[in-house]
Amino acid sequence: METATSQQTAEALRYLYAKVPSKLHQPVIGIICGSGLNGLADALLPEPRFGIPYTDIPHFSPCTVHGHAGKLLFGIFEPEALPVVLMVGRVHFYEGHSFQSITFPVRLMKRLGVETIIVTNASGGLNEDYAVGDLVVLNDHINLAGLAGIHPLRGPNADDFGVRFPALSDAYDLDLRRRAHHLWKELNRDAGNTRRLQEGTYAFVGGPSYETRAECRMLRRLGADVVGMSTVPEIIVARHCDMRVLAISLVTNKALLEAGPQGNDIQIQSSSRQDLTRTIEKGKANHDEVLDAGEKAAREVQVRRGCSNQFVAG
Ligand code: 6GU
Repeated sequence: METATSQQTAEALRYLYAKVPSKLHQPVIGIICGSGLNGLADALLPEPRFGIPYTDIPHFSPCTVHGHAGKLLFGIFEPEALPVVLMVGRVHFYEGHSFQSITFPVRLMKRLGVETIIVTNASGGLNEDYAVGDLVVLNDHINLAGLAGIHPLRGPNADDFGVRFPALSDAYDLDLRRRAHHLWKELNRDAGNTRRLQEGTYAFVGGPSYETRAECRMLRRLGADVVGMSTVPEIIVARHCDMRVLAISLVTNKALLEAGPQGNDIQIQSSSRQDLTRTIEKGKANHDEVLDAGEKAAREVQVRRGCSNQFVAG
């Protein structure tokens, strides 16, 4: 079915083709930069590089979080001369955008020719073994809202993008994950990288409040390793149109926390909280902490020269 999305994508595409230098027209990788991870853009060759503010692109929604609308950046990764497109800044469900708006750029990337999408985000760590600063290659997700029908593919199916009932059991490309781990090992060897690369499951929540302690315990028991407010809608839409997906999450803070200094628990019997009390930390999540950790990591976690093409070759 020709949906509104198809027409809108076509319009946005026409606009981009008119603006963007033709040698940047055919990106093969799309990258969505998560909170604080906009520094990934620095890995692009300085010239040619071409940015277009979201506010100029038909049907794009501007970000409202950090006071800048965000931009679509076209560029080249050296030394393989690999054309890429980056979303510097993304929009979230908690800002009030519809899933259609949030995922529109993914469909636009598809129409631009992108075959592989790399999605990054900041998340709260639920897995006791994760430390702040760890990176997590996502291998699965839990979409709580989606299970209840609040889903980016709800509504008439965009047949020209994909099927009505897409499978998500293989959403997180095994080969790309293997390559990520392999490259990480090489970077560790060459550059003395001290961060750890984990594998785990991401729980998508609507936000914008951070989770309560009980919610964190619930998510952990459901099998989530990290929790965050993005990524899953984009990944679902990317898989719908058969893009390969690599998703990497930066643990910016521990989600499982104890009450603050004034305490929040009245001890009656200590049996109910079980083993989770072992690993939780005191304090509470805050957005500055998330951004700081993101910026620090972005400097180190750039898709480095010479690594990028290994995600598309072969
Ligand atoms: Cl603790 N929760 C959520 N939902 N998103 C986050 C986070 C926590 N930390 C970074 N992003």
